[in-house]
Amino acid sequence: MSQTLIDISGLNKVFATKTGDVHALSDVNLTIGTGEFVSLLGPSGCGKTTLLKILAGLEDHTSGEASISGAPITKPRGDVGVVFQKPTLLPWRNIEDNVLLPIELHRKVTPKDRAAASALLTKVGLGEFSRKHPDELSGGMQQRAAICRALVHNPDVLLMDEPFGALDAMTRDALNVEVNRIWRDTAKTVVLITHSIPEAVFLSERVIVMGPRPGRIIDIIDIPFGKERTLDLLGSSEFARISSGIRKYFEVTV
Ligand SMILES: Nc1ncnc2c1ncn2[C@@H]1O[C@H](COP(=O)(O)OP(=O)(O)O)[C@@H](O)[C@H]1O
Ligand SMILES: [Mg+2]
Repeated sequence: MSQTLIDISGLNKVFATKTGDVHALSDVNLTIGTGEFVSLLGPSGCGKTTLLKILAGLEDHTSGEASISGAPITKPRGDVGVVFQKPTLLPWRNIEDNVLLPIELHRKVTPKDRAAASALLTKVGLGEFSRKHPDELSGGMQQRAAICRALVHNPDVLLMDEPFGALDAMTRDALNVEVNRIWRDTAKTVVLITHSIPEAVFLSERVIVMGPRPGRIIDIIDIPFGKERTLDLLGSSEFARISSGIRKYFEVTV
Protein backbone atom coordinates (compact mmCIF):
# COMPACT_ATOMS: atom_id res chain seq x y z
CA MET A 1 0.00 0.00 0.00
CA SER A 2 1.02 3.61 -0.53
CA GLN A 3 2.09 5.81 2.34
CA THR A 4 -0.42 6.07 5.20
CA LEU A 5 -2.40 9.30 5.09
CA ILE A 6 -5.32 8.64 7.44
CA ASP A 7 -4.66 6.65 10.59
CA ILE A 8 -7.46 5.54 12.88
CA SER A 9 -6.61 3.41 15.88
CA GLY A 10 -8.65 2.15 18.81
CA LEU A 11 -11.28 4.76 18.03
CA ASN A 12 -14.37 4.89 20.24
CA LYS A 13 -17.30 7.25 20.26
CA VAL A 14 -19.99 7.33 22.92
CA PHE A 15 -22.87 9.80 22.74
CA ALA A 16 -24.28 10.61 26.18
CA THR A 17 -28.03 11.04 25.71
CA LYS A 18 -30.94 11.62 28.10
CA THR A 19 -31.88 7.97 27.78
CA GLY A 20 -28.35 6.68 28.35
CA ASP A 21 -25.09 6.23 26.46
CA VAL A 22 -25.09 5.36 22.76
CA HIS A 23 -21.93 3.50 21.78
CA ALA A 24 -21.66 4.68 18.17
CA LEU A 25 -18.15 3.40 17.38
CA SER A 26 -16.20 0.65 19.06
CA ASP A 27 -12.48 0.04 18.63
CA VAL A 28 -12.23 1.13 14.99
CA ASN A 29 -8.78 0.52 13.49
CA LEU A 30 -8.03 1.51 9.91
CA THR A 31 -5.24 3.03 7.87
CA ILE A 32 -5.89 4.63 4.50
CA GLY A 33 -3.06 5.24 2.04
CA THR A 34 -2.40 8.37 0.01
CA GLY A 35 -4.45 8.27 -3.18
CA GLU A 36 -6.55 5.31 -2.09
CA PHE A 37 -10.31 5.02 -2.70
CA VAL A 38 -12.02 3.42 0.27
CA SER A 39 -15.72 2.90 1.00
CA LEU A 40 -17.27 2.52 4.43
CA LEU A 41 -20.26 0.28 3.90
CA GLY A 42 -22.88 -0.60 6.47
CA PRO A 43 -26.53 -0.44 7.47
CA SER A 44 -28.15 2.66 8.88
CA GLY A 45 -27.06 3.48 12.41
CA CYS A 46 -23.70 1.67 12.37
CA GLY A 47 -21.73 4.88 12.92
CA LYS A 48 -20.68 5.75 9.36
CA THR A 49 -21.58 9.42 9.58
CA THR A 50 -20.07 9.65 13.05
CA LEU A 51 -16.78 8.28 11.71
CA LEU A 52 -16.81 10.63 8.74
CA LYS A 53 -17.54 13.62 10.97
CA ILE A 54 -14.63 12.66 13.20
CA LEU A 55 -12.36 12.52 10.11
CA ALA A 56 -13.75 15.88 8.98
CA GLY A 57 -12.96 17.40 12.38
CA LEU A 58 -16.65 18.12 12.95
CA GLU A 59 -17.12 15.70 15.85
CA ASP A 60 -14.95 14.77 18.85
CA HIS A 61 -14.16 11.19 19.65
CA THR A 62 -14.33 9.63 23.10
CA SER A 63 -11.06 7.68 23.04
CA GLY A 64 -8.46 6.34 20.63
CA GLU A 65 -6.67 8.21 17.85
CA ALA A 66 -7.56 9.67 14.47
CA SER A 67 -4.91 11.49 12.48
CA ILE A 68 -4.22 12.81 8.99
CA SER A 69 -0.62 13.12 7.80
CA GLY A 70 0.49 12.24 11.32
CA ALA A 71 -1.41 15.12 12.97
CA PRO A 72 -4.30 14.35 15.34
CA ILE A 73 -7.62 15.64 13.95
CA THR A 74 -8.98 18.31 16.26
CA LYS A 75 -10.84 20.63 13.90
CA PRO A 76 -11.77 20.93 10.22
CA ARG A 77 -8.63 20.97 8.05
CA GLY A 78 -7.99 22.95 4.90
CA ASP A 79 -6.73 19.86 3.07
CA VAL A 80 -10.01 17.96 3.47
CA GLY A 81 -13.17 18.47 1.40
CA VAL A 82 -16.56 17.10 2.47
CA VAL A 83 -19.69 16.21 0.50
CA PHE A 84 -22.86 15.47 2.46
CA GLN A 85 -25.99 13.57 1.44
CA LYS A 86 -27.87 16.78 0.69
CA PRO A 87 -26.12 19.22 -1.64
CA THR A 88 -26.86 22.13 0.77
CA LEU A 89 -26.26 24.83 -1.86
CA LEU A 90 -27.26 28.37 -0.92
CA PRO A 91 -30.38 29.13 -3.01
CA TRP A 92 -29.61 32.84 -3.50
CA ARG A 93 -26.13 32.28 -4.93
CA ASN A 94 -25.41 31.07 -8.42
CA ILE A 95 -23.63 27.75 -8.91
CA GLU A 96 -20.15 29.19 -9.37
CA ASP A 97 -20.51 31.35 -6.24
CA ASN A 98 -21.71 28.31 -4.32
CA VAL A 99 -18.64 26.38 -5.45
CA LEU A 100 -16.39 29.26 -4.36
CA LEU A 101 -17.91 29.49 -0.87
CA PRO A 102 -15.22 27.48 1.00
CA ILE A 103 -12.56 29.86 -0.33
CA GLU A 104 -14.63 32.96 0.38
CA LEU A 105 -15.00 31.91 4.01
CA HIS A 106 -11.23 32.15 4.41
CA ARG A 107 -10.06 34.88 2.04
CA LYS A 108 -10.86 37.06 -0.93
CA VAL A 109 -11.74 35.13 -4.08
CA THR A 110 -9.20 35.71 -6.88
CA PRO A 111 -9.61 35.36 -10.65
CA LYS A 112 -7.51 32.21 -10.34
CA ASP A 113 -10.08 30.74 -7.92
CA ARG A 114 -12.87 31.61 -10.37
CA ALA A 115 -10.93 29.84 -13.12
CA ALA A 116 -10.51 26.78 -10.87
CA ALA A 117 -14.25 26.71 -10.07
CA SER A 118 -15.12 27.10 -13.71
CA ALA A 119 -12.73 24.30 -14.76
CA LEU A 120 -14.23 21.95 -12.15
CA LEU A 121 -17.78 22.75 -13.25
CA THR A 122 -16.82 22.09 -16.86
CA LYS A 123 -15.23 18.81 -15.84
CA VAL A 124 -18.51 17.56 -14.34
CA GLY A 125 -20.60 18.81 -17.27
CA LEU A 126 -21.93 21.95 -15.57
CA GLY A 127 -19.90 24.49 -17.53
CA GLU A 128 -23.00 26.11 -18.98
CA PHE A 129 -24.77 26.24 -15.63
CA SER A 130 -22.32 28.31 -13.60
CA ARG A 131 -24.60 31.38 -13.61
CA LYS A 132 -27.75 29.40 -12.83
CA HIS A 133 -29.20 29.09 -9.36
CA PRO A 134 -29.57 25.77 -7.50
CA ASP A 135 -33.34 25.52 -8.02
CA GLU A 136 -32.73 25.57 -11.79
CA LEU A 137 -30.69 22.35 -11.57
CA SER A 138 -31.73 18.71 -11.06
CA GLY A 139 -30.77 16.85 -7.88
CA GLY A 140 -27.91 15.10 -9.68
CA MET A 141 -26.59 18.38 -11.04
CA GLN A 142 -26.77 19.99 -7.61
CA GLN A 143 -24.80 17.11 -6.14
CA ARG A 144 -22.20 17.51 -8.90
CA ALA A 145 -21.90 21.16 -7.89
CA ALA A 146 -21.49 20.11 -4.25
CA ILE A 147 -18.59 17.85 -5.30
CA CYS A 148 -16.98 20.82 -7.10
CA ARG A 149 -17.41 22.90 -3.94
CA ALA A 150 -15.61 20.20 -1.93
CA LEU A 151 -12.75 20.15 -4.47
CA VAL A 152 -12.36 23.87 -5.22
CA HIS A 153 -9.58 24.47 -2.69
CA ASN A 154 -7.78 21.40 -4.04
CA PRO A 155 -7.84 19.29 -0.85
CA ASP A 156 -5.80 16.08 -0.58
CA VAL A 157 -8.71 14.19 0.95
CA LEU A 158 -12.31 13.98 -0.22
CA LEU A 159 -14.86 12.67 2.30
CA MET A 160 -18.33 11.84 0.99
CA ASP A 161 -21.31 10.81 3.13
CA GLU A 162 -23.88 8.96 0.99
CA PRO A 163 -23.65 11.69 -1.64
CA PHE A 164 -25.93 9.93 -4.12
CA GLY A 165 -28.37 8.31 -1.69
CA ALA A 166 -31.26 10.56 -2.71
CA LEU A 167 -30.77 10.15 -6.48
CA ASP A 168 -32.41 7.76 -8.91
CA ALA A 169 -30.41 4.68 -9.95
CA MET A 170 -29.44 5.89 -13.43
CA THR A 171 -28.24 9.28 -12.24
CA ARG A 172 -26.34 7.52 -9.51
CA ASP A 173 -24.59 5.21 -11.99
CA ALA A 174 -23.60 8.20 -14.13
CA LEU A 175 -22.24 10.08 -11.13
CA ASN A 176 -20.33 7.02 -9.96
CA VAL A 177 -18.55 6.92 -13.33
CA GLU A 178 -17.79 10.61 -12.89
CA VAL A 179 -16.45 10.16 -9.36
CA ASN A 180 -14.17 7.40 -10.65
CA ARG A 181 -12.85 9.74 -13.32
CA ILE A 182 -12.33 12.63 -10.89
CA TRP A 183 -10.47 10.32 -8.53
CA ARG A 184 -8.18 9.09 -11.34
CA ASP A 185 -7.62 12.60 -12.70
CA THR A 186 -6.90 14.30 -9.38
CA ALA A 187 -5.21 11.50 -7.39
CA LYS A 188 -7.19 12.47 -4.27
CA THR A 189 -7.60 10.15 -1.32
CA VAL A 190 -11.33 9.40 -1.20
CA VAL A 191 -13.42 8.02 1.66
CA LEU A 192 -16.98 7.28 0.54
CA ILE A 193 -19.77 6.33 2.88
CA THR A 194 -22.55 4.31 1.37
CA HIS A 195 -25.13 1.66 2.16
CA SER A 196 -25.11 0.50 -1.47
CA ILE A 197 -23.05 -2.64 -2.04
CA PRO A 198 -22.77 -2.12 -5.85
CA GLU A 199 -21.69 1.49 -5.37
CA ALA A 200 -19.01 0.48 -2.88
CA VAL A 201 -17.70 -2.36 -5.07
CA PHE A 202 -17.85 -0.29 -8.26
CA LEU A 203 -15.85 2.63 -6.91
CA SER A 204 -13.46 1.31 -4.30
CA GLU A 205 -10.07 -0.27 -4.01
CA ARG A 206 -11.09 -1.47 -0.54
CA VAL A 207 -14.52 -1.87 1.01
CA ILE A 208 -14.64 -1.50 4.79
CA VAL A 209 -17.69 -3.42 6.00
CA MET A 210 -19.20 -2.08 9.20
CA GLY A 211 -21.69 -3.70 11.56
CA PRO A 212 -24.06 -2.03 14.02
CA ARG A 213 -24.45 -1.71 17.80
CA PRO A 214 -21.81 -0.69 18.48
CA GLY A 215 -20.47 0.44 15.11
CA ARG A 216 -17.33 -1.48 14.25
CA ILE A 217 -15.40 -2.89 11.31
CA ILE A 218 -16.39 -6.48 10.57
CA ASP A 219 -14.42 -7.07 7.37
CA ILE A 220 -12.14 -5.36 4.87
CA ILE A 221 -12.40 -6.51 1.27
CA ASP A 222 -9.85 -5.77 -1.46
CA ILE A 223 -11.54 -5.07 -4.78
CA PRO A 224 -9.36 -6.53 -7.54
CA PHE A 225 -10.33 -4.25 -10.43
CA GLY A 226 -8.06 -1.69 -12.04
CA LYS A 227 -8.44 2.01 -11.32
CA GLU A 228 -10.58 2.75 -14.35
CA ARG A 229 -14.13 1.51 -13.86
CA THR A 230 -16.85 1.47 -16.50
CA LEU A 231 -20.50 0.49 -16.15
CA ASP A 232 -20.08 -2.84 -17.94
CA LEU A 233 -18.24 -3.95 -14.80
CA LEU A 234 -21.66 -4.08 -13.08
CA GLY A 235 -22.63 -7.04 -15.27
CA SER A 236 -19.47 -9.09 -14.79
CA SER A 237 -19.45 -12.36 -12.88
CA GLU A 238 -16.54 -11.19 -10.71
CA PHE A 239 -18.56 -8.13 -9.67
CA ALA A 240 -21.54 -10.35 -8.81
CA ARG A 241 -19.34 -12.74 -6.84
CA ILE A 242 -17.77 -9.99 -4.74
CA SER A 243 -21.11 -8.24 -4.17
CA SER A 244 -22.86 -11.37 -3.01
CA GLY A 245 -19.96 -12.16 -0.70
CA ILE A 246 -20.48 -8.79 0.97
CA ARG A 247 -24.28 -9.11 0.96
CA LYS A 248 -24.02 -12.13 3.28
CA TYR A 249 -23.07 -9.75 6.09
CA PHE A 250 -26.35 -7.91 5.76
CA GLU A 251 -28.81 -10.74 5.30
CA VAL A 252 -31.74 -10.27 7.61
CA THR A 253 -34.55 -12.69 8.28
CA VAL A 254 -37.99 -11.17 7.95
N1 LIG B 1 -25.47 13.66 18.05
C1 LIG B 1 -25.89 12.45 18.44
N2 LIG B 1 -26.39 12.26 19.68
C2 LIG B 1 -26.77 11.03 20.09
N3 LIG B 1 -26.69 9.92 19.33
C3 LIG B 1 -26.20 10.04 18.11
C4 LIG B 1 -25.78 11.31 17.58
N4 LIG B 1 -25.33 11.12 16.31
C5 LIG B 1 -25.48 9.81 16.05
N5 LIG B 1 -25.99 9.16 17.12
C6 LIG B 1 -26.26 7.71 17.22
O1 LIG B 1 -25.07 7.02 16.89
C7 LIG B 1 -25.35 5.88 16.10
C8 LIG B 1 -24.60 5.99 14.77
O2 LIG B 1 -25.18 7.07 14.02
P1 LIG B 1 -24.62 7.48 12.58
O3 LIG B 1 -23.17 7.72 12.69
O4 LIG B 1 -25.46 8.60 12.09
O5 LIG B 1 -24.90 6.16 11.72
P2 LIG B 1 -25.00 5.93 10.14
O6 LIG B 1 -24.43 7.13 9.47
O7 LIG B 1 -24.22 4.68 9.90
O8 LIG B 1 -26.44 5.74 9.84
C9 LIG B 1 -26.85 5.81 15.96
O9 LIG B 1 -27.35 4.95 16.98
C10 LIG B 1 -27.29 7.23 16.23
O10 LIG B 1 -28.60 7.28 16.76
MG1 LIG C 1 -25.23 8.42 8.07
